[in-house]
Order: sequence, then C-alpha cells, then structure tokens
Amino acid sequence: MASVNKTISDHGISLMENFPMEKYNTFHVAVNSKYFSEFDSDESLYEILDFMETNKLSHLVLGGGANILFTKDFDGIVIHPVSDNIVVDGDIAVADAGVVWDKLVETTVSMGLGGLENLSLIPGTVGAAPVQNIGAYGVEAKDSILWVEYAGVKDRKLHRISGKECKFGYRDSIFKHELKEEAVILRVAFKLTRESEDYPYNVEYGALRAKVSELGGVSISNIRKATIDIRSSKLPDPAILGSAGSFFRNPEVAKEKLDGIKSRFSEVVYFPLENGNYKISAGWMIEKTGWKGRAIGNAAVHDKQALVLVNKGFATGQDILRLSDSIRHDVENTFGIILHPEVIIL
Ligand code: EPU
Repeated sequence: MASVNKTISDHGISLMENFPMEKYNTFHVAVNSKYFSEFDSDESLYEILDFMETNKLSHLVLGGGANILFTKDFDGIVIHPVSDNIVVDGDIAVADAGVVWDKLVETTVSMGLGGLENLSLIPGTVGAAPVQNIGAYGVEAKDSILWVEYAGVKDRKLHRISGKECKFGYRDSIFKHELKEEAVILRVAFKLTRESEDYPYNVEYGALRAKVSELGGVSISNIRKATIDIRSSKLPDPAILGSAGSFFRNPEVAKEKLDGIKSRFSEVVYFPLENGNYKISAGWMIEKTGWKGRAIGNAAVHDKQALVLVNKGFATGQDILRLSDSIRHDVENTFGIILHPEVIIL
C-alpha cells in the first residue's frame, strides 16, 4: 500500500500511513511503520498523542534512528521530532529535540562554549542524546545536561527533570526504564563552559591528544576537528554505509573474571572503573574471535572497528540480528562473556 498523507487536526499535523522507514534508520533497513507523524511544536505533539490514544496505538519516538535495529515492520505510530531551535543564553544552550546533534556541537563550539566538543559528529538528534547518554572520547552527554523537558504520554503535561533525576549511566538513563513509554523529550538544556585559560579540556583519549597536538595545540575547536578526524577514520558514515555505531556495549566484569581472561590473552584491552570493576573492549573480543571484516550475506562486521556492524546494502534487520547472534555466541564461547546490544532492537 502506498503512503497516504492525512491531515488530522487544526494544527496541520500530517499523518502518513504504511510509511517506509529506510531513510529514518541509519542501518537503512527497509521496513514500514503503520503510521508516521512529525511534530514541530509541543501542541502538535499533543495532537499526535490524542490520535494515538483514540486509536490505541503503540508508539516509538524516533530522532535520527541512529541507535535502532528494525527487525520487522512497526505496527504502531512513529513520532518524529522536527522542532529545531537552539537558544543560547550565557553559558546555557537549550536545543529542541529535533536538532541534529552535530549541529548543536558545531554551534556551541563556534561560540566559544565548551562541553560538547568531544561528542562531535555523533549521528542522531538532541532528543535522543539523553536517552542513551551518548558518549565518546572520555565525555558523556550527562556531563553537560542541566535539564530535560518532556511531554508525559499519559498525563499530557510538560515535565522538567534535572540531569541528576535522569539517572544517567553508561549508555543508560531513566528514559530507557521508568519513563520508557511515558516520555516524549521536547528539549534539552546544556550547561556549557566558556573557553578560557583554565578550561578543563578532556584529551585523556590517547589518539585525541596526539591529533590535537598535530593540529597545533589544545582548544575546543581543535578537539572538535580531531574528534571528527578520528571518528571519520574508524566509523562508517551512515549516509554511505548503513550502521548504528557500536552495536554492543563494552561489558563490565569483576577483577577475577578479567584475571582469568588475562591469563589466556595477555594483550586483552580493558579499562578500570571507579567501582573496582573493569570494562573490557568488546571490539577487541570480537576481533579476537575472527569476526572483524567478516560478513553473513549483506550484514558485516566493519573492517576498521569490530564493534560496529554494517549493512553492505539490502541487508534485512533479521540478517543483522543473525550476524550479531553469531558474534555473541563466539564471544561467549571464547571469553565466557555475554555481550549486550547497545542498539535498541525492535
Ligand atoms: N579494539 C580492537 N579492535 C577493534 C575495535 C577496538 O582491538 O576492532 C580495541 C583497541 O585497542 C581500541 C580499543 O578497543 O583502542 C577501544 O576502541 P575504541 O576507542 O574505538 O572504542 P570502543 O570502546 O570500541 C567506545 C564507544 C564509542 C565511542 C568510542 C570512543 C561504546 C559501546 N562505544 O567504543 O561509541 O565512540 O568508545 O570513545 O561504549 C557508539 O556508542 O555508537 C560509539 C561509537
């Protein structure tokens, strides 16, 4: 069935039926959603929520679709924010959910405001950033998030919660748990820091430090440039090669478990955590099991970063899921560790 464009309210909301989702997920998996609707204001979102309730539809809020794997058609309504204002007042930037993430980073860095520079070029939108607490090169979104405003799906009220109330963790937040079905994020406020002599640059990631010094020294704009450079060299551009960045999380293990692995693989890549446990590099484990660069049909393991799965063209979500299951199986057999997906699988 072809997409149908219906107007359902005075606010001019258009609603698409049987909508192709290929362009709305960075894996470029070709599934359809039963309904698809965009909102560019709080009012238009409430209209969509009314329609959803009347028709008893399940929903999915989708920003850039940069962290999702569709394995089948979505039998509900996809709600897509397109509101895209950025308002900067002093050192606080408030960005609408539909703002492209890197546009926010570019804007704030160009104004001399630091905090997001290490998060340059992460695909996706501002509204998705708090959900999985995006992170890279020693920095996480939670380090700058001051508050998040969301619409309650049931109570239709505007809520504002502080960064602390978001219960941020490693690729985790309240929006993946208590508020999973209950919140549609409308805007996010970031507390930034004006660049000055005592600005706390974060160049603890070795390759970033090296690249920044190659560029002539540390500054937020050089950190942005270096980050873009490193990401472009390791991670596929989703516009060219479908992917959702890291497919799995780096697993956390206790010291005894790490010691057991070290006794067999002295070169294991790991990082100590504040709680006394260790994070082991999932990319290293996947590479060690021989999967780097290998494919099952059109679903493949990226040849420059084994934590990233890619769609070489026309892979289905099921193909990618099968590949991920094979990888999990081999990693568990070799290391006794179960990998957990970072992407949301639907
Ligand atoms: N490694 C390998 N082989 C590989 C990949 C990695 O041996 O194929 C080893 C290397 O020693 C490398 C180390 O693992 O130095 C770490 O790799 P990398 O710096 O690429 O980071 P990562 O742990 O694989 C995480 C995030 C990325 C983020 C980078 C940089 C997760 C799940 N992923 O990856 O985030 O960009 O650190 O900070 O934590 C994402 O979430 O989608 C994402 C790309």
